[in-house]
Amino acid sequence: MTILKIAVATALLSIAALGQAAEPVRITIETGKPGAVINKDVYGQFAEHLGSGIYGGLWVGPDSPIPNTRGWRNDVIGALKNLHVPLVRWPGGCFADEYHWREGIGERRSRPVKVNTNWGGVTESNAVGTHEFFDLVDQLGADAYVNGNLGSGTAQEMAEWLEYMTADSTSTLAELRRKNGHNAPFKVKYFAIGNEAWGCGGNMTVQHYADLYNQYASFLKTPKEDTPQLIAAGGHDDDTSWSDYLSAHIHEQWNMHFDAVSFHYYTLPTGIWEKKGQATGFPEEQWISTLKNTLRIDTLIKNNVAKLDKNDPKKKLAFNVDEWGTWYDVEPGTNPGFLFQKNTLRDAVVAALNFNIFHAHADRVRMTNIAQMVNVLQSMIVTDNDKMLLTPTYYAYQMYVPFQGATSLPLHVEHNAEYRFGKLSIPAISASAARSADGKLLVSVVNTNPEKTADVVLDMPVQKLNGQLLTAPRMDSLNTFEQPDQVHPVPYSITAVKGKMVLTLPPKSVVVLTAQ
Ligand code: AHR
Repeated sequence: MTILKIAVATALLSIAALGQAAEPVRITIETGKPGAVINKDVYGQFAEHLGSGIYGGLWVGPDSPIPNTRGWRNDVIGALKNLHVPLVRWPGGCFADEYHWREGIGERRSRPVKVNTNWGGVTESNAVGTHEFFDLVDQLGADAYVNGNLGSGTAQEMAEWLEYMTADSTSTLAELRRKNGHNAPFKVKYFAIGNEAWGCGGNMTVQHYADLYNQYASFLKTPKEDTPQLIAAGGHDDDTSWSDYLSAHIHEQWNMHFDAVSFHYYTLPTGIWEKKGQATGFPEEQWISTLKNTLRIDTLIKNNVAKLDKNDPKKKLAFNVDEWGTWYDVEPGTNPGFLFQKNTLRDAVVAALNFNIFHAHADRVRMTNIAQMVNVLQSMIVTDNDKMLLTPTYYAYQMYVPFQGATSLPLHVEHNAEYRFGKLSIPAISASAARSADGKLLVSVVNTNPEKTADVVLDMPVQKLNGQLLTAPRMDSLNTFEQPDQVHPVPYSITAVKGKMVLTLPPKSVVVLTAQ
């Protein structure tokens, strides 16, 4: 090809590309084809004995000068209540496989003091144990997800914990619970048999874990009407072998339950554990790589769900992403074992992208837990002694509350623009739609491009949408104790003009709207 021909071809290609870009993005919502219900537990949280995730961040003890209710901070609980937190997973994570429940009951001052070997080697007072945890979920109005110890505990210890929590009999363990102050059984909605058995939970093969699951689960006896959903600790990242093997080899028996396989996926800007990338002050290259890496969860879910569909075609099993979120290099000057990181607008966009993906898989993804609720990784809240601030991720959760329990609706995004930086590109627009329990249409749209406004035509049978928009001046805009209101949602509404709803989305923004 001559130079002239190449130049003409390039010009034609650019004109074609321009022509495409000129077409506005169009989102068509299929309101007549309802999909699966978005289980409210998709908006679950995770609180581990890790750093100040519990001690200091949530629990200050009843004698603290920080206002509290039976030891739990009033400010933090009040803020979390606005998120309608449906579910809390506790006590870990890696901590769960070293946790011995008997050390966390009875007189607080007589409980054994341990060392938290997983997280910073700090003192674990056992002040927060079973009764305190259930008080926390009661105060939040949430359900309980208890993670059992498979790694270093016995089948007997696990069975006795569940008996202690749920028995309504006159057994010695049920009486001990009563003596410790709780007459009625606790309600355990979910119970997991171990955590990350391929790693901190015991470095096992999936075959060994499946045998242990069968063994431990066989002895978990609870009142029939109060049987928790039992979760097998599954795989992570690109590895689908755990989902495949567990769904093929664990079967419900007359005395044993199996309700879900779990999955963990963390978003790292670089994708490299040794040098994950910074929480703030990052270049645009890491804005796009973070979003690209988080969007991978869609493929990871599809790949795992394909294994479940093969082995469980009736879709009895859930695929629960019970740990997810961003994980950055630890904040300089903090204990590396505390996993404290700052939370910026980027985290809110990551959360919204994940929500949109979870909604699209609502038939299998019936519960997720972001890591973690307070002060750890991608948290909702950061505390410093008696001070508290709400992170951009908190606001993403608050904006999406209407999606809890709504029915997902299929949608098509046409003419989606591409957001490119360097060698990477991702779709500029991500969206999700649903019908709320009270019949209202909901739509969420994310503009991933940090530089360009997006005009989006919404093809849906409504004339007015009201809701909230979240954006901020910088990719790493954040709230601080000095300036706690830098990033927060603002009211946003659109009205149809000549029957057409056009959404003008600022760069790097999230919008959630409800039809009026
Ligand atoms: O959320 C922090 C840790 O990440 C959890 O304890 C563990 O399960 C995972 O590796």
